[in-house]
Amino acid sequence: MTSSQLDPVKAAVAAHWNRRAASFDSDFGHSIAIPEERAAWDRILDLVVAGRDGLDALDAGCGTGFLSFELARRGHRVTGIDFAASMLEEARRKAADNGLTVRFEQGDAENLRFPAASFDLVVSRHVLWTLPHPEAAIDEWIRVLRPGGRLAVIDGQFDPNFIAPQRENARDSGEYAAIGGQLPFLGGRPATEIEALFRAKGLTGIGSDPVADLVAAHMARMEQAGREPQARRRYVAWGNVPG
Ligand SMILES: C[S@@+](CC[C@H](N)C(=O)[O-])C[C@H]1O[C@@H](n2cnc3c(N)ncnc32)[C@H](O)[C@@H]1O
Repeated sequence: MTSSQLDPVKAAVAAHWNRRAASFDSDFGHSIAIPEERAAWDRILDLVVAGRDGLDALDAGCGTGFLSFELARRGHRVTGIDFAASMLEEARRKAADNGLTVRFEQGDAENLRFPAASFDLVVSRHVLWTLPHPEAAIDEWIRVLRPGGRLAVIDGQFDPNFIAPQRENARDSGEYAAIGGQLPFLGGRPATEIEALFRAKGLTGIGSDPVADLVAAHMARMEQAGREPQARRRYVAWGNVPG
């Protein structure tokens, strides 16, 4: 998938992440750096998989594969899709370096090539905010879930006063300045709104968690780096396909 095959908004999004692929993992909060973050992610992933083993999982907008690898290490069969070729290149390199098996494919998270009912779990971290059609994407993610399957979204609601302790913030970039008005969830949506959307789309067993442990771990990291610790509103929200 080349940028000429994407509409201009998606081409700008893909260009942004292609440009940042090499440094993405070292940017703040993208990887696990301290034991408190490890513990928080273990708890969050326990909430997401809810005790189920051997799931067919899809990571929509997988980037360099953070969630894909967390799930693969737990024994799930994972497919990661992203439209940014350089992000996928990083993901494939990491899979090879760590001896992990994940099927990474280039594709549009809003228009999946998978037949209906292909997966038991669809996960997505930090992606809804950057989609031009987030509600259609949620429909698509639900379409590929089997009866009883689960959709889990990890996201945040971004405070304009929050100064990300990293070299670049997407929302301040030239690419996003040009297209931000066409991204309905830019800035993030509260967990309550995502839960309401899941309910409206027929999911059941809906819940969310404010990931206070992850927020606290990030604040500890900021403090360790000599920065003023700032809390960031984050959450994981989930819902199940009936059946
Ligand atoms: C903030 S990054 C998050 C990456 C990864 N989910 C993570 O948590 O580390 C957003 C990712 O979504 C991808 N993305 C955005 N819109 C997409 C779309 N329509 N189809 C596929 N990937 C998309 C970008 O290329 C980028 O890799």
